[in-house]
Amino acid sequence: MKHKISPSLLAADFTNLAKDIEMINRSEADWLHLDIMDGVFVPNISFGFPVIKSVSKICKKPLDVHLMIVNPEKFIKEVKSAGGTIMNVHYEACPHLHRIIQEIREAGMEPAVTINPATPVCLLKDILEDVYMVLIMGVNPGFGGQKFIRHTVDKVKELRQLIDETGSKALIEVDGGVNLETGILLLEAGADILVAGNAVFAAPSPEEMIHQLKTL
Ligand code: DX5
Ligand code: ZN
Repeated sequence: MKHKISPSLLAADFTNLAKDIEMINRSEADWLHLDIMDGVFVPNISFGFPVIKSVSKICKKPLDVHLMIVNPEKFIKEVKSAGGTIMNVHYEACPHLHRIIQEIREAGMEPAVTINPATPVCLLKDILEDVYMVLIMGVNPGFGGQKFIRHTVDKVKELRQLIDETGSKALIEVDGGVNLETGILLLEAGADILVAGNAVFAAPSPEEMIHQLKTL
């Protein structure tokens, strides 16, 4: 499978989201990544369901919703009715991960589990066959534009091996610090989807940067 690109709206121009979403629609982006933060799970607050709902009205690409919040099980219906296609919940925020993964699927979305930089890949062994995707963070979640943590590449390799061993079909997504240089390392390690915020929106031509990431 050719890898996918999921630009993160967090780095877009919030005074003119429609313009950036139209660019995403025209571009080779596969999905649009939406970062929801609650100021509790992560030390920042971003945007919530009304914004996702508005974005979904004009965005033609599937919405890849990344919830950096405590108790994400409370918001499955909201994510679905706001237009979410993929719902990413953090391993560290879900003591009953298996239950929430089933509930996300029953709600009609693709369930994904996200791990922070300090959470080992081996902890995912017993959930791998139930998830559509695993999202490995390349930075500590909460902010765009941070420096990529190199160890992430080893985690992607380890997860690729675990997926192959268990026969799981889970996709591997990486989020945080992704650019042309780190992107190639992650793809070589076995990543399927690259999320990119600053690399895309701070580029002179975001559409061209998406093309370059897509052709890595
Ligand atoms: C970080 C978010 C990321 C962020 C990535 O907490 O989950 O999706 O937007 O931004 P960059 O690509 O700039 O590191
Ligand atoms: Zn994210």
